[in-house]
Amino acid sequence: MQTDQPFVQAIDLVVRFPVKTKQGTKYITPVDGVSFAVHTGEVLALVGESGSGKSTLGRALVRFNEPAAGTIFVDGNDVTHVRGQRDLGTLRRQIQMVFQDPFGSLNPVRSVGQHLSALVRKHQGLRGDALRQQTLQLLETVGLSPASEMILKYPHELSGGQRQRVAIARALAVKPRFIVADEPISMLDVSIRADILKLLNRLKREFDLGYVYITHDLASAKYFGDRMMVLYAGQVMETGTSAEIIASPAHPYTRLLLSSTSGAWSRDTKLNTSVEAPDLFEGRRGCPFANRCPISTEVCLRDRPVLRAVGANHAAACHHADEAITI
Ligand SMILES: Nc1ncnc2c1ncn2[C@@H]1O[C@H](COP(=O)(O)OP(=O)(O)OP(=O)(O)O)[C@@H](O)[C@H]1O
Ligand SMILES: [Mg+2]
Repeated sequence: MQTDQPFVQAIDLVVRFPVKTKQGTKYITPVDGVSFAVHTGEVLALVGESGSGKSTLGRALVRFNEPAAGTIFVDGNDVTHVRGQRDLGTLRRQIQMVFQDPFGSLNPVRSVGQHLSALVRKHQGLRGDALRQQTLQLLETVGLSPASEMILKYPHELSGGQRQRVAIARALAVKPRFIVADEPISMLDVSIRADILKLLNRLKREFDLGYVYITHDLASAKYFGDRMMVLYAGQVMETGTSAEIIASPAHPYTRLLLSSTSGAWSRDTKLNTSVEAPDLFEGRRGCPFANRCPISTEVCLRDRPVLRAVGANHAAACHHADEAITI
């Protein structure tokens, strides 16, 4: 159920990293002035090609990165600069991350039961039979059954999909309100990607979870995302309901993304539209997409476009978004 207050809100968020260049240390801004809001029970799909800043943005929400500027509110609290184990612990219980590589996040010498029960014990304070029952229940919730057999297995005995289900169960053990899922299906066998996405969708309804769903793949973003935010070079190019963006993309970059994918997320539809990596250095001017854009003009090289409404709940950061140009 949605309340007026978003669960996660970012305002003009900037993440900056130092990089060594021949001219000395410079800064790149892989997240450069990004604003969005997501309610519980809602999915914001973050799409964009490799290097567009999706993971950096997702990680900033759980404060694996500390923003250089801007504000992050979680459940109404400003968490932009929270420090210390206690406050960061609170944040990371509210927002869990699920990563691309489920194997990397599991310890090979610990059984599924050990992985989960340690978390349930710590975060739900259960012991003995109640702990075992809750652990079995978690396994059932993520579709790992029979749970009494799955609880005994070790990571190497599981398929990629099963491992990702364990990773999702671990996230749930903390009873989060929100999940940042960073490409959770892209390393999995094509045949089971749909099942994992359906699971995430079911959990959304069952636990009223909110998600930032990070993906290269517009078709899965359309399936799972209520809304979509298209990033390029750390800036928002377009945002709106997924259905509207797919049906009538307003930004030339989104149109390029759409034309470069087959649209079938059961197939491998990695976006590979880059001719060269975009300039991320601080102080860049104009639209970051201008040098690749088929309709760019002088103003695009000079002025950074702001997000402007192009429909109800649909906005694009393009100087020419309202011109009827087809690419
Ligand atoms: N800790 C870091 N230090 C320096 N640069 C970084 C760091 N983390 C990310 N970057 C740079 O920030 C940019 C954005 O990276 P990010 O991983 O957020 O992109 P992405 O959209 O998630 O890409 P992919 O689709 O390949 O996962 C890249 O140029 C990357 O090299
Ligand atoms: Mg990434």
